Amino acid sequence: MDTPKEINEVVLPQPVVGPLTRSAIFLVLSIRPDRCNHPAVRFFLAGLSGLVRAVEFRNIEAGLTCVIGFGSDAWDKLFGLPRPAELHPFRELRAGNRHAVSTPGDILFHIRAKRMDLCFELETRILSSLGDIVTVADEVHGFRYFDDRDLLGFVDGTENPRGAAASEAAIVGNEDPAFAGGSYVIVQKYLHDMKGWDSLSVETQELIIGRRKLSDIELSDAEKPAYAHNALTSIEEDGKQLQILRDNMPFGRPGQEEFGTYFIGYCRTPRVTEKMLENMFIGNPPGTYDRLLDFSHPATGSLFFVPTATFLDNISADAPDTSVTGAPLTPEPPSTVPAHDDSLGIGSLKEEKQD
Ligand code: HEM
Repeated sequence: MDTPKEINEVVLPQPVVGPLTRSAIFLVLSIRPDRCNHPAVRFFLAGLSGLVRAVEFRNIEAGLTCVIGFGSDAWDKLFGLPRPAELHPFRELRAGNRHAVSTPGDILFHIRAKRMDLCFELETRILSSLGDIVTVADEVHGFRYFDDRDLLGFVDGTENPRGAAASEAAIVGNEDPAFAGGSYVIVQKYLHDMKGWDSLSVETQELIIGRRKLSDIELSDAEKPAYAHNALTSIEEDGKQLQILRDNMPFGRPGQEEFGTYFIGYCRTPRVTEKMLENMFIGNPPGTYDRLLDFSHPATGSLFFVPTATFLDNISADAPDTSVTGAPLTPEPPSTVPAHDDSLGIGSLKEEKQD
């Protein structure tokens, strides 16, 4: 890690990398398309960290955190230039009857805590602060299910990178110095056909996921088909694995026959997650697609950039509307960045594959 010259030059990421929590809320908002709403959103953002602290402190042990991300169009309207190098709208994919949809959304709030009441309180405060300058594009309340299982019955999250490897995978480094410490996040709300899934034998389900259902042990290379979910989402370059940081959550309303998995994947470049999606939906090779998609379809899909906490703290409520001026909102690019390899590009996402 670079040594900061001055303590106030240290750039703090948002709490992207953190422990798994029992509860989470995924809130996607659209800013109403009236130009004077953007200064109002900046005013809200300038006070957001204080709002989070106030709710967090009501039960500090619950570990409330809130990560906020911005879609490509919203970034331009709120902050103008400079913009994160790889920020663009979510790219939809279509193959056969599989469709990774791209759906509207300007701001993502990923709220996590050990207790749902804190998440709920923060979401309520956020929405009442923003009032009618935004509309809710999507809202999902997620819960941890038994041993970190998804509603399909499999443990979800086992192969997530941990510790330093998690930061290495998720946090932008020197490849984009003005936005070092940030992260790209892709979200998709998947709905499951539980009747169809439950009609499969456990052995067939295990081939689709690539792991044993009860023990969570990975299938051997000899057992695992090319279409297995964990085969198609294992992206290697020069024998090394490119990783993302996931914090998927089950959600649902059994009374409405709604059973789902909210997929959320952070990465220092959207290219890795996009490659995984391509493998899942189109197949690798094309046609060898993810059979999970025969029983799950995404109802939403969006890409956001998560700037640093330092960037958010520097937002000035009365900054000019940069959609007109293109002027930078943050005065200085950060002078210190997380410890990453300098070459950047996709190569620096590599991590030794651990068996
Ligand atoms: C219906 C939605 C999904 C469900 C239910 C699901 C479930 C699972 C499960 C059960 C595993 C095995 C345990 C683990 O290592 O976490 C897994 C692994 C994984 N999934 Fe998903 N997943 C979903 C969507 C996605 C999407 C959209 C992506 C990426 C775009 C993705 C990326 C990964 C990765 C990278 C792994 C680890 C692969 C490895 O290295 O072994 N998943 N997922």
